[in-house]
Amino acid sequence: MVQNISRRGFLSVSTTGVMAAAVADIPTPTPQKIPWETRLIISNRAELRMLQFTDIHFFNGATRRPEREKQKRNQTLDDARRLIDHAKPDVLLITGDVWHDNPDGRGAEFMNYAIEQFASWGVPWAFTWGNHDQLDDYKAAHKVLAEAKHSLYGGIEKDGNYVVTFENRDGTCLAEIFCLNTRDTGIDKMAQQFIHEAAVTLDTRHKRPMRLGAFHIPIKQYKDVWDNDTARGIIGENVCMEKEDGTSLPILAAAGIQAVFCGHDHVNDYAGSMEGVDLIYGRTTGHNGYGTSKVPKGAKLYTLDPALKTLEWVSLLPDGTTWKPGTNERKDTRRSS
Ligand SMILES: [Fe+2]
Ligand SMILES: [Fe+2]
Repeated sequence: MVQNISRRGFLSVSTTGVMAAAVADIPTPTPQKIPWETRLIISNRAELRMLQFTDIHFFNGATRRPEREKQKRNQTLDDARRLIDHAKPDVLLITGDVWHDNPDGRGAEFMNYAIEQFASWGVPWAFTWGNHDQLDDYKAAHKVLAEAKHSLYGGIEKDGNYVVTFENRDGTCLAEIFCLNTRDTGIDKMAQQFIHEAAVTLDTRHKRPMRLGAFHIPIKQYKDVWDNDTARGIIGENVCMEKEDGTSLPILAAAGIQAVFCGHDHVNDYAGSMEGVDLIYGRTTGHNGYGTSKVPKGAKLYTLDPALKTLEWVSLLPDGTTWKPGTNERKDTRRSS
């Protein structure tokens, strides 16, 4: 599938590893096809803007309180459009818990609804699975996600694990983002293996570019950086690392991944660093998820400078205001209601 995207100079999205250049006089490289890689070719620009939505939770409560659920869902959709308008992102990273479970086998219907919304936003999007993104037929779901409009999903081959590569028109790699499936456990052995093997494969192709990771459930060291006082931001609940045992961080670091973005804990928005990897929480987006009174819903905007391999981030609210913790700002609201 190849799509032309007019927004902000995008040229193409490919889920098969084959690029399409929209400018005929620019030579098109013919890279080796990697089944777990998708590519986004963008205009030559100094910076890349990624907007992370997480924990949207469409249809949470649809059975018990359908009117309320619909109202909150519409509020989330209104917010999403405003956030995109403010951020003008090159890409959306949607890090899981997009819909809520699989009641009465409705998971696929919920997913299709979500995909329809993503497609309508007109921005290339990547998706990583959350523990609540449940349905009956995952094999079919991988395909639907990969073939959706503006999708960068490449998880068919490796059960939801894939890499999105961002390239300049001339084929220069700007950045790679490792999108991982943390299921309901965290980064499991299969995902760890994927990180290692994907990095080895990509390293044979070119010098390591800026490399990032996106997934749903935080790794153990998110807790460590808060507990050792080096993280900055807000913590409203204990880190829910599920079955994370801490073994993923060295694997991420060895793969050259310099920063990771997660979700899952709706009222945590902080960042710290360990073993040379920045551990950053997204700002949760969906009004159907818990936590609005503690941490207002929004998104996280990352601005990458691929040449310098630097990354800036802010939490972005639907009214356009931004927040980032100060140098020594640590707020713990775990004991307040
Ligand atoms: Fe969630
Ligand atoms: Fe979750």
